[in-house]
Amino acid sequence: MSTTLDTTTSDDLDVPAARRRSAELERSVRERPGRFRALTGDRPTGRLHLGHYFGSLHNRVRLQNLGVDMMVLVADYQVLTDRDVADRLAEHVEDLVLDYLAVGIDPARATIFTHSAIPALNQLLLPFLSLVSVAELGRNPTVKDEIAHSRQSAVSGLMCTYPVHQAADILFCKAGLVPVGQDQLPHLEVARTVARRFNNRYGTPGSPVFPEPEALLSEAPLLLGTDGGKMSKSRGNSIALAATADETARLIRGAKTDADRHIAYDPVARPEVSSLVLLAALCLGRDPHEVAGEIGGRGAAALKATVTEAVNDYFAPIRARRAELARDRAHVRGVLRDGNERAAVIADATLKEVRAAMNALYY
Ligand code: TRP
Repeated sequence: MSTTLDTTTSDDLDVPAARRRSAELERSVRERPGRFRALTGDRPTGRLHLGHYFGSLHNRVRLQNLGVDMMVLVADYQVLTDRDVADRLAEHVEDLVLDYLAVGIDPARATIFTHSAIPALNQLLLPFLSLVSVAELGRNPTVKDEIAHSRQSAVSGLMCTYPVHQAADILFCKAGLVPVGQDQLPHLEVARTVARRFNNRYGTPGSPVFPEPEALLSEAPLLLGTDGGKMSKSRGNSIALAATADETARLIRGAKTDADRHIAYDPVARPEVSSLVLLAALCLGRDPHEVAGEIGGRGAAALKATVTEAVNDYFAPIRARRAELARDRAHVRGVLRDGNERAAVIADATLKEVRAAMNALYY
């Protein structure tokens, strides 16, 4: 069957529907975790911060521990979308793997791998690109946003096409679940579209080559940076997972608060104070209203002391583990080597299937 290229677009995104679907998926995962493979990834651009931890890492470890087959991608080729030079790439890759291991991603149960080591994954990009139109690529809201904030002088071809590459990340291992934040929904839509069109064009009816992956939106708590803006490495307002206790204390001491001495949890009216309260509550495993209530009229200094202690206590074992692992480079490299080997076997098998479906196996 032939396929027209401009049918579904990311403009059709329906976030409330995606949330409802995620809740349903979450129930199925808890019932039969072993049935699911999940894939997520990060661009190696430096150390991960507390926003990443509570927004996604924590959730990945939870899924892994439930028994979901986790694939964790170090998206080293995607890094090239948003910078002219990928300097210190090797260092960033190592930092990312250290963060993963320190928080409890377990290489015995999860597969940690990099784009650059998996030729068959990258090759999928070519047939996949033929399945999307240039107009569709241009409409992707996340890409538009990245272009608007890009420090590059010109928009590269990779910037426009990386969502299709990301579709290859997901489809090469036929992941059904993609635990992501809301900003990634347009990319998920691209992956679903590519899967559907590939199946329509090349598949046999009733036995699709690719399942349509689904987003598993995490209940990401909104942690702000220390300046009250979005927490982000590039804004210098984040607290790294690997920060020392002293650095953490200093960063929290400098965090923005407001003029009201009475501490309350009210994310809308008092975003900065509430984000600090939330951070303490997440580390303490407690309700943010209760945490705020106990501080009450003791003011911002007391709040900051509570947050600092909570963060440092919670992350102490993670930081200790990270420091220990950082002394064993060979181990980190071994984790990547094994993960890459496992991912390559999966990618080779999928590429073979794709070539067979396309009638492109000539020998
Ligand atoms: N785009 C994601 C980010 O910037 C990283 C990523 C790459 C990813 N490939 C992926 C996420 C596949 C989920 C699935 O955070």
